[in-house]
Formats: sequence, C-alpha cells, structure tokens
Amino acid sequence: MTKKSRVPAGSLGKSDANSRVCLRGWVNRRRDHGDLVFIDLRDRSGITQVVFDAQFLPSPELLERAKELRSEFVLEVEGEVILREKEAINPDLKTGEIEVRATGLEILNRAETPPFPIEDEVRASEDLRLKYRYLDLRRPEMTRNFILRSDVTYRVRQLLHAEGFLEVETPILTKSTPEGARDFLVPSRIHRGKFYALPQSPQLFKQLLMVSGLERYYQIARCFRDEDLRADRQPEFTQIDLELSFPDEEDIYELIEKLFVAVFPPNGIPCEAPFRRMKYAEAMERYGIDRPDTRFGLELSTLDASASPSEILKKAQIVKGFAVPGGAGFARKRLDDLEFQAKNLGAGGLIWIKLDASLPGGWNSNAKKVLNEETIAAFRGKLQAADGSLLLVVAGKEKSVNDTLSTLRAQIGREEKLIPEGRYDFLWVTDFPLLEWHEDDGRWYATHHPFTSPKPEDLDYLETDPGRVRARAYDVVLNGMELGGGSIRIHRQDVQSRIFSRLGIGPEEAREKFGFLLDAFRYGAPPHGGLALGLDRMLMILAKAGSIRDVIAFPKTASGTCLMTESPGPVASDQLTELGIQIRPPQAGS
Ligand code: AMO
Repeated sequence: MTKKSRVPAGSLGKSDANSRVCLRGWVNRRRDHGDLVFIDLRDRSGITQVVFDAQFLPSPELLERAKELRSEFVLEVEGEVILREKEAINPDLKTGEIEVRATGLEILNRAETPPFPIEDEVRASEDLRLKYRYLDLRRPEMTRNFILRSDVTYRVRQLLHAEGFLEVETPILTKSTPEGARDFLVPSRIHRGKFYALPQSPQLFKQLLMVSGLERYYQIARCFRDEDLRADRQPEFTQIDLELSFPDEEDIYELIEKLFVAVFPPNGIPCEAPFRRMKYAEAMERYGIDRPDTRFGLELSTLDASASPSEILKKAQIVKGFAVPGGAGFARKRLDDLEFQAKNLGAGGLIWIKLDASLPGGWNSNAKKVLNEETIAAFRGKLQAADGSLLLVVAGKEKSVNDTLSTLRAQIGREEKLIPEGRYDFLWVTDFPLLEWHEDDGRWYATHHPFTSPKPEDLDYLETDPGRVRARAYDVVLNGMELGGGSIRIHRQDVQSRIFSRLGIGPEEAREKFGFLLDAFRYGAPPHGGLALGLDRMLMILAKAGSIRDVIAFPKTASGTCLMTESPGPVASDQLTELGIQIRPPQAGS
C-alpha cells in the first residue's frame, strides 16, 4: 500500500474546496450529534474541523469508530474539503471557512485523558504544565513559540553565513569561564578529585578561535550559570554568540543592527537601524540603571538638598528623585507600599512630596521635618514638576539610590500605563566603566568580564584611579531588557596581565586559570571583539511571552528543577564511589 501524502491541517482554505486530502494529527475536540460526529483535528500547523456524516461514509462501521474517538487520540483521516454553509463559518478559526468530510479513518493511537485540556486558555498551574511539558507544548500558543524560535535561528544563521561567519562548536566540558555567576561542576571519573566546569559562555574559546585565524565565528551556544533566577533568567540558556577579528565598535553595532532588522520586522516588530546610543553615565543619571526603558518619561534627576534643615539629607552621598505628573492623587496606602518597597530595595527611606495648590503651603510630605520651602522649590524646579505632581526622592549611597528609584520608576510606569503599546526602543548603552568597586570585600571586579579592553586613553588611570577607566564595552537593550552585551577585547598579554593584577588575580592564579589564553596571546593574537545576544530573551519579546520558560522547550522552575524529569536527582552510591565523592549531611549554616 502506498503511503498517502499528508497535508497540514492548518493550511486548508477555500481554494482547497473539492480536493481530496489526508490529515494526520490529534483529536482536539469531539462533538457527537448522532449521525454526525465532528472532530477538531489538530497538528502543528493548526486545526481543521472533520465531519463524519453517516450520509457520506462508505460504511456505518466508520461512524461507530468515530464515536470511539477521545481527546488526544492520534488519527489518520481521509476526506474531501468542502465549503461550510454560511452560518457554519467559524471566523475564529483560520480554516473556519471549510471542513473535511471524512471518507476514511484510522486510529493510529489511543490516549488517556490528559491531566489538563490542550487549549490556549489553559487554567492548569504552571507546575502541572511543566510536569507534562510534552502535552503543554501541544497547545497551539506554545507550538507557535517553537515555530518562531526555529524561524529566528534560521534567519540568524542565514545572515551570519552571508556575512562570512563560521559556525563553530566549543566544548561543554571545560574549565571555568568567568561571567560573574557560579559554575556548574562535573566531576571527572578518570581524574579523581578534578572537575570540569560547564561554560558560562564560550568567551575564552571564541577569543582563541580569533587567535586561530578563523576571523569570524558564531555559535548558537548553550550557557550554564548557577545564579539566582528571575523572570528573564534560566540556569541553562542560549546565546547567539559571535566574535570578529579586526573590528571596531562601529562594525559590531552595524552587524547586530542588521541581524535585528533581519529578525524583528518579519516577525511583526518594528526595528529601524541605526539604534539610539546612550553612554552608561547618562543612563545611570537619567534612569538609574544601565538598561533603561526609554519608552516613557519619569526621568530621574540629581537634586540639591543643601538648603534642607536635615544634616542627614544635606550630607547624603547623593539625593535623587523623579516626578510623577498627576501623582498627587496617589492614595496613602499606595504611598506606604512604595515606601515599604524602597526600604526592601535597600534605601534608608523614601520621601514623597505631593504638590497640591489646594493644600496649606501647596504641598504635603511624609518627611516634613527634613524639608522646607527652599528645598521643595529646588526639587520642584529641577524636576520641572507641575502642580498635581508627586515627587519621589531617595537619599543615600549612589548605588542603592539608583537601584531603588529605577525599580520604582519602572513599576509606576507600568501601573500608570505610561508605556505606549507597540513601541520598541532599541538602544546601545556604551562607555561602561571597566571596573566596579565591591564594598563588601573591598576590591575591584570587572564590570563585564576580565577580557574587556579598556579605552586606550584611560589605561593610565588603571593603577591611579581605576574607577575612571572606561571599557570598550557595549550592551544592546530593548524596552528595558538587556538583550546582549559584548566588547572589544584585550589582545595583548601585557595589558591582560595588568588587568588581572588590578583585579587581584596574581600571576600564579592567572597562569593556573587562564594560562592557555595568555600563551595564545604570545603567538600573534589579532585585535578582536564580539558580542552575545540572549536568544531566549529575544524570543520572549518576539513571542510576547510573559516568561522566559514559555520559549524554552524544557525549562527549569524558579528553583532550578525540572518537574518532568525530576532533575536534579540523587545518584546511585556506586556512581559516587567511582567518582570518589562522599555526600556530607548539611552542616549548620551551609
Ligand atoms: P553576558 O553575560 O552579558 O555576556 O551575556 C549575554 C546575554 O546573555 C543573556 N543572558 C541570559 N539569558 C537567560 N538567562 C540567563 N541566566 C542569562 N544570562 C545572560 C542576556 C545577556 O545580555 N561572553 C559575554 C559576551 C561577550 O562579551 O561577547 C557574555 O556572556 O541577554
């Protein structure tokens, strides 16, 4: 018997009327009207209604078989495409103008009742969906996300191939690559007591490929980071990772803009090159964050509190705030919540000031003692706040002031619906500082990673004023989300050693951790640079998904587990013995 050629259920339309088709897929729904049985047949492409009509069936036995069908049975149906009667047209269904009048049916497999209905309006908890992920992925909404994901990686490969990039795979079992998170470790059986680390990114390998003379590398690369999870973070995620020899920043910007233009507009998101650029210092001043959402106002300003009657306010390292137009009407409860939240975010407190001409003096505040007319006038003038506005002000250390205000700004922007629907602001953030001072352990850390090149004109400050050294680093940001980041790298051993020493990585430690890279730099390393995009984050935006988990086929929960496979799981004791590993019971404080 020859295998019949199958058509995708979701592709059928008016122009297919009267043609004979063979469909294979799953029963989405069945309705039994006696002599008429309707099946919504679903496959990857969509849904088509199939009708088993006693009048047209070659044998009554076929109707009996149709009555046996249940949700998620797997079928092969043969039939004829017919136009639906006008009143039977379903405008909500892509194939709603036709139906398939069945003449043949084969049940390819039966199914138990699934733990939740396979439909977009899913009411099941996410945990249940993750446990039965293979069923969750049958939901058209989820299927669409993976069709989209495949389309995006295809376009990326096409573009990078055309631009002369080679796709190269780098190791998964490797040594630590410092990207600022903890490593996932894999014990070696052969080398007892030694461990591989899963790569936090292919960073070192892609630099080595430049030393190898491959000139242009890319990879759709899996990365592993043992860090606290958030809505846009997974312990295992995918980067579009790339590196070029002999580039400057402009080459990278141009390439990434081309890539975004190849991916976003065909998927319904406007994207025009060149993107706006903003220096890190400006982003921090105006938005308090290095990935600003520039779609709405509520911009921050540094305020002059020198006239304040409060020594604390006067002496604060920094006083910043923003004005919410019309916010003078915020209820007391909402203001209390904001204050509570500010404290949770690490601020000493939150000063709110309502500007309201109908109040005695024209304003009210939760911190009247630290304010006077002159201070209010200074704040109000700097924030250009009209009557009816709410001023939110935080004083203290620069980092906590910025962290607090940027979070409150984003929240109020969302709550007040200040973000225009359908707007996409692509932005380059440039001129990052090379180093960051960490107060808790009193040392400098690389803002990105230790292989980022300093701006040559700032190099001399490395020893005298490290905080002043700017990096040749850049991030690409979309609507307040960091989509990618990269830099022009150090390609000279002497500069790399100076940076290591500034970071407190002594020559011995540098040799032990990165000896291979330092060695490679001795043999003619070309100037090079690159960037990595978070593919999952890009897809979240393209798919308009609420969670990064919706665009990853088999994601982890917020606590890093897979509910389907139940990983991480225990291992047999002989496996541990073979590895020379003994599990200690948890100690107090560990
Ligand atoms: P970076 O650490 O900035 O740079 O990572 C690049 C991009 O990867 C995405 N990303 C993540 N996505 C999901 N879950 C995570 N846990 C996660 N962590 C990062 C983000 C981020 O912008 N080697 C450098 C790149 C380079 O310098 O070329 C790197 O990995 O979208």
